[in-house]
Order: sequence, then structure tokens, then C-alpha cells
Amino acid sequence: MTSRDERLHLRRLEARERDTLMERMERAGRQTHSMKRLRLGSVYIAEVGRSIAGWGGFDFQSNRRYPEVFSLFVYPEFRGQGIALALELVRYREAQAQGARHAYIRVGSEVSPGLTRKRLESGCFRFVEVDGSFSELCSDCPQNGSSCATQQFMVIDVEKRAAQIVSGGQRLPPPPTVPGGVTAG
Ligand SMILES: CC(C)(COP(=O)(O)OP(=O)(O)OC[C@H]1O[C@@H](n2cnc3c(N)ncnc32)[C@H](O)[C@@H]1OP(=O)(O)O)[C@@H](O)C(=O)NCCC(=O)NCCS
Repeated sequence: MTSRDERLHLRRLEARERDTLMERMERAGRQTHSMKRLRLGSVYIAEVGRSIAGWGGFDFQSNRRYPEVFSLFVYPEFRGQGIALALELVRYREAQAQGARHAYIRVGSEVSPGLTRKRLESGCFRFVEVDGSFSELCSDCPQNGSSCATQQFMVIDVEKRAAQIVSGGQRLPPPPTVPGGVTAG
């Protein structure tokens, strides 16, 4: 992210792009179950220059008791530059704009123990029991019982986590702006 052309840009995925993104997800070995089931949610695309570097979703509409962040992914060649933090932040900004104080996340077996530990240590994430209205989405996922046998759930304090990301204790690329009123910075 040194030249102007290579700055991080976040944008909302348009509905007509969703199937193309799911094809891309499959090519990257990602599950598409959440993306298929949470069609009412927003998906943010992180672009660096002309390249798609990653994405992440947030859905408040499907289950207002359990606003959900889902499908966070950054391509390996773009990792370690704060792109996931920027995607996290824009999703928490949307959650806050919708009046949600907490967001929930499914912790599948692809999430590294190191990342889970870091999240717990941040004081903003904790494991939580959820009721069937949230956990049922996993039941018909093709990965349920296989690579994602140990499905767990975390709740996130969105205000605290957003403040933590912004506070500078964590790396963050220059504040991206998202058309549609939600800013990440
Ligand atoms: C997890 C992932 C999204 C991180 O993307 P990234 O752009 O490299 O992350 P960032 O550079 O924004 O770093 C975010 C923070 O998470 C930490 N982090 C990221 N991956 C980590 C890992 N595997 N273990 C421990 N910490 C990790 C970073 O150290 C950083 O914290 P810091 O600011 O305190 O240093 C990326 O590695 C990925 O797509 N992994 C595969 C899919 C996945 O696990 N998604 C998460 C599902 S919940």
C-alpha cells in the first residue's frame, strides 16, 4: 500500500455480484453456506488497486437477536497489512449504525487457535451459548460434522472492539470510505 493506486478501498458488494463472489470463494476453498443463507446481509469487499484482497459480511436483518459477522477472508498475499482489521471495523460501524451493541461470530475449525486466543485476549470477544435460532444455520451446512465438527460461537462487544481498532494499539491502513454512509475510520 505504498502508491496511490494501491491504497485499500472498501466497497459494498452489489446484489448482482454475489454469485460471482461465491464462485471466487469456492476457488479459494471457502465455504459459501453463510453467504447463501444470509442474503439480507451486507458484504464488504476490500480492494487494493484492481485486485480483490478480501471480504467480510455482516447481517442484522436475518436474526435481530443475533446480528452476525460472517465470511471474513483475506488472500494470503495481502495478509498482515491490517485489511482484516479494516473489514472488521466497517462491519462494526454498520452494526453500531443499526443500533446493535453486540455481534456474533461462528468459530469454525478453519479459524486458527492463535487468532481465537488473540480475540479472547482483546477482551472484546467471548465464547457464548446461542439458541437454536442462531445455531440452526450450521445444521445444513455441508461442513457441519466434518471439517467444522466443533462449531462454537463468540459474541463481540462492537463498540469496544471498534474503539480498540481505531485507538492505534492495532495497525490499520488509511481510513477507507464506503459509499452509502458507513465509514471505517
Ligand atoms: C484471519 C485473516 C482474515 C486475517 O487477515 P489479515 O488481513 O492478515 O489480518 P490483519 O493484518 O488485519 O490482522 C488482524 C489482527 O489479527 C491477527 N491475526 C491475524 N491472523 C492471525 C492468526 N492466524 N493468528 C493470530 N493472530 C492473527 C493479527 O496479528 C492482527 O492483530 P494485531 O493488529 O494485534 O497484530 C486471514 O488470515 C484469513 O483470511 N484467514 C483464513 C480465513 C479465516 O480464518 N477467517 C476468519 C474467520 S472468523
